[in-house]
Amino acid sequence: MSSVEATIEAAKRLAAFTAIDTHFPKDAKVVGIGSGSTVIYCVERIVQKKAAGEIPADVVYIPTGFQSKELIINGGLQLGAVDGYPVIDVAFDGADEVDPALNCIKGGGACLFQEKLVAICAKKFVLVADFRKNSTALGTQWLQGVPIEVVPTAHAKVRQDLLAMGAKTVTLRLGGKAKAGPVITDNCNVIIDAHFGEIADPSTLAREIKLLVGVVDVGLFINMAAASYFGNEDGTVTAKF
Ligand code: 5RP
Repeated sequence: MSSVEATIEAAKRLAAFTAIDTHFPKDAKVVGIGSGSTVIYCVERIVQKKAAGEIPADVVYIPTGFQSKELIINGGLQLGAVDGYPVIDVAFDGADEVDPALNCIKGGGACLFQEKLVAICAKKFVLVADFRKNSTALGTQWLQGVPIEVVPTAHAKVRQDLLAMGAKTVTLRLGGKAKAGPVITDNCNVIIDAHFGEIADPSTLAREIKLLVGVVDVGLFINMAAASYFGNEDGTVTAKF
């Protein structure tokens, strides 16, 4: 690992540990676990605190996709599902870009629908990220575009719609070693990444995309997060509420 990569990993870990230490309720019953590389450190901290008796052993953890399900199982934590637990005490998740109002872009790992479902079911939604995600305006740092989960048969129609709405680039996300086929989500859909440049009004854009026939959900999370923690290069944490 290069020193730049090590700095980024340390920043992720610090953000995740701080968020868990600050926001994991003592009387928690149900906790949501998001997706991505930063959330791995949230689970690491939860496992540590459970072993130390600081977190009750009977908490049920709700995953947002295959990766977080594996994290929960491998951490020896109790696995639940959001259809069995539609009320969640708190959910922790990563983000691709977060603005000063805590609106964010998510879905870099293609899990955006289940992430949004778990986040909306949570009484409190907490973001964890490294310094690269701390943005002044959405669309200025995460240049891959806004991830959008789409029913497979609708992908060509939705791509046309997004271009007509002003997207600068619209890309069907490809996966696998040869990138020969589309990335398939946990819900058997595909992902379109639509880059709009700097997003002046994320709330309106999110609503307009969501209304397109064929769109399952959009990776713009508006007015959902209660707090966001960014690990910095110098070993400090920036907290935003
Ligand atoms: C997955 C996500 C992730 O939370 C997001 O991509 C951030 O990931 P990482 O913590 O690896 O930077 O939205 O769909």
